[in-house]
Amino acid sequence: MRPQEGLFHSPGTFSAVLVLRLIRDVALSHLREVVSSVHEELTPAHGLHTVLGLEPALLPEAAPAAPALLPREGPTARFPSSQAHVLVQVSAEHREPVLWALRRTLALSKGVLVLEEEVLGGRIGEGRDAFGFRDGLLRPTREHVRRTALVPSGSLAGASWLLYLRFQQDLERFGRLRPGAQERVVGRTREGEPLHDLPQEAHVLRARASGAGENQLLIRRGFPFRHHGEEGLAFVAAAADPGSYVRSLDALLGTQGGPPDALLRYALAVGGGLYLAPARDWFQHTSLQENPA
Ligand code: HEM
Repeated sequence: MRPQEGLFHSPGTFSAVLVLRLIRDVALSHLREVVSSVHEELTPAHGLHTVLGLEPALLPEAAPAAPALLPREGPTARFPSSQAHVLVQVSAEHREPVLWALRRTLALSKGVLVLEEEVLGGRIGEGRDAFGFRDGLLRPTREHVRRTALVPSGSLAGASWLLYLRFQQDLERFGRLRPGAQERVVGRTREGEPLHDLPQEAHVLRARASGAGENQLLIRRGFPFRHHGEEGLAFVAAAADPGSYVRSLDALLGTQGGPPDALLRYALAVGGGLYLAPARDWFQHTSLQENPA
């Protein structure tokens, strides 16, 4: 089992997500060649961490395991689907490798994939979300990732299920709340300290209600972005079991008992999809095939 190394690295200072759609009538073997060439070029690049995911239906061994996840709706909020075929997440401590990776991915996939979404962002301060709250408090260790995010055995051993959701955050509306009320929406102080006597609708309580607290069910690897006056979170998560996302999203929506997540009054999901990051062996060694000697 050889998972993609990028899964072990939380997003660096600069991060991006590319969502690409397959051009009609392109053979799957051609797609595999292209995705493999992107993998082959990006993964060894110094200081760059890459994770590549594919729509589960493209992988015969993954398709039966994929739950019907998106779109998903609750009484007060919705997680829409903008499912496409390929998701590439890159991150680095500097902006240059991220830009290079975006350019190379688009150049290598020309004629086979078209760009559907591009989100470029990065760390705010010491790691805050767009509302100014400390996020990603419990940094996952390699062991957390191995335990929580990697399929342990079977034909998908070493693969990881990725959930991508793009949220727009309403800074103005959230900013009208008093500081104490903001903290009760998130369920922590701005600096990330725990709070007591929280309402059940507080975000961290809803997230934990699904069992997702402390890197147990999913590894969060998202990053904040700002684009065209819009601020939000490119939420990306990795999990060994795609059923974890069903449980987490239902807990946030409030469809399995418990109220809807208060944070969803201020954060609107505008797109998303489920992808599978196959183990490294899935990628063909294109250069070896071209030069068998
Ligand atoms: C715009 C959307 C979101 C924002 C702004 C946001 C923000 C935050 C913040 C500030 C924290 C507390 C800091 C921390 O524990 O690292 C947190 C915790 C957490 N969030 Fe979110 N989040 C968002 C969406 C989501 C979604 C969609 C999920 C799950 C599918 C999720 C799952 C979690 C989990 C599991 C925790 C940690 C709970 C714990 O261990 O105490 N979040 N989030």
